[in-house]
Amino acid sequence: MARILLGVTGGIAAYKSLEFVRLADSAGHSLRVIQTPTSQRFVGAASFEALTGAPVLAGEFEEDPARGTFPGQPAPAHRPLHHLQLVANADLYVIAPASANTIAKLAHGGADNLLTTAALAAKCPLLVAPAMNNHMYEHAATQANLALLRERGVAVVGPDSGRLASRGEHGAGRMAEPAEILAACERLLAQQASGDQVPMRGLRVLVTAGGTREPIDAVRFVGNRSSGRMGVALAAAAQARGAEVTLVAANLAVDAPDGVTVRRVGSAAELGEACRREFPHCDVLVMAAAVADFTPATAAPGKLKKAGRDGLMIELVPAPDVLGGLAAERSAGQTLVGFAAEHGPGMLAYAREKLERKGLDLVVANDVSDPAVGFDSESNEVVVLTRTGEVHVGRAPKTEIADAILDAVMRARGGTEARVEDDAQSAPRQRLRALPTRL
Ligand SMILES: Cc1cc2nc3c(=O)[nH]c(=O)nc-3n(C[C@H](O)[C@H](O)[C@H](O)COP(=O)(O)O)c2cc1C
Repeated sequence: MARILLGVTGGIAAYKSLEFVRLADSAGHSLRVIQTPTSQRFVGAASFEALTGAPVLAGEFEEDPARGTFPGQPAPAHRPLHHLQLVANADLYVIAPASANTIAKLAHGGADNLLTTAALAAKCPLLVAPAMNNHMYEHAATQANLALLRERGVAVVGPDSGRLASRGEHGAGRMAEPAEILAACERLLAQQASGDQVPMRGLRVLVTAGGTREPIDAVRFVGNRSSGRMGVALAAAAQARGAEVTLVAANLAVDAPDGVTVRRVGSAAELGEACRREFPHCDVLVMAAAVADFTPATAAPGKLKKAGRDGLMIELVPAPDVLGGLAAERSAGQTLVGFAAEHGPGMLAYAREKLERKGLDLVVANDVSDPAVGFDSESNEVVVLTRTGEVHVGRAPKTEIADAILDAVMRARGGTEARVEDDAQSAPRQRLRALPTRL
């Protein structure tokens, strides 16, 4: 079990940190708490002290009766500098809630209180859980500060979307739930224990999964058979590699992985809107959802009646090209992955044409005429096309296919591409690992 240092800043969500302490304590972790002076206007030290069984610190010049130790640790004979000693003793420093103000200070090396000074001195992993009003969160300054922190290897959990503290306000900015923050802490601790095998740490990955439903009336829709398994496997694999993952989930038949931020959508238009909001903040976009190509021109407001009808004509019009639209707005450094689910021969030619036409970095092509792979099945078999080559990944569970795709993404980001000949006998991961040099 770990020693977790919790930093609490000034925001309404500070009350939720008490629940975090309770959960972390029940899970067997030992905790110390640092508060900013502002946070003490929201929640007092006494509650944290009662729950952790240790003194709370807020000022740099306050004496620490525990001399920088965590519950259960022997106190040194001398009086160490507690802004240094607390982080030296911690396995992890989590700041939850992290206010916009403190995030700005962390990004720019500010050290004007005990919480920020300790962060600057921390050698252990740092995790922040932003919590603020949606306009503050979406402000370019906050986004740039978070991007800077991520680049430096700081992990970020949340925020979630939903009802915000101010009356009537909804949007992104709600602090991640305490259980989610604890899960993120435990993932970081496990990654650290496993020797830091986290090649995607610091990257934000946006994955779409599932199939969109285009309303015909209030109860009927035009849909497809996508279960979302491929996208969910990709989200889980990216998270296991240390990425911060947002999953835009359209009507999933399977559970979303724990610990990823989930934005639930129904139709292609909703999926497009969620992607447009998230896309500017991501490093990698993986568009695994089956998004409708056509949508009913109008959706009837109630349930269409059968009586008196001989038949029903539904006019379908093209749905907006979500991926094409995002690709047109891409920034330098973003990697875009599309999927091409095609029937039979011509699949590769179509996938390459899609890659070129939409300006993508990778296209994952699969032949959905084979019922054993693709839509709604546990397995897949794909060809990953890049700008300079292609990799065949033989039939395998979608979890393994996801790993192979992310390997290709990382190679593309690293500027190396490779081509591997089809070899139906060897395992997909082995084939990818044995990649020769760029052709
Ligand atoms: C009632 C109230 C609620 C606030 N909620 C938040 C919040 O949720 N997130 C945030 O970033 N700032 C919030 N603020 C503003 C911060 O308290 C302010 O930026 C402060 O300087 C943060 O200090 P700290 O980062 O040192 O804790 C709130 C202020 C008030 C008065």
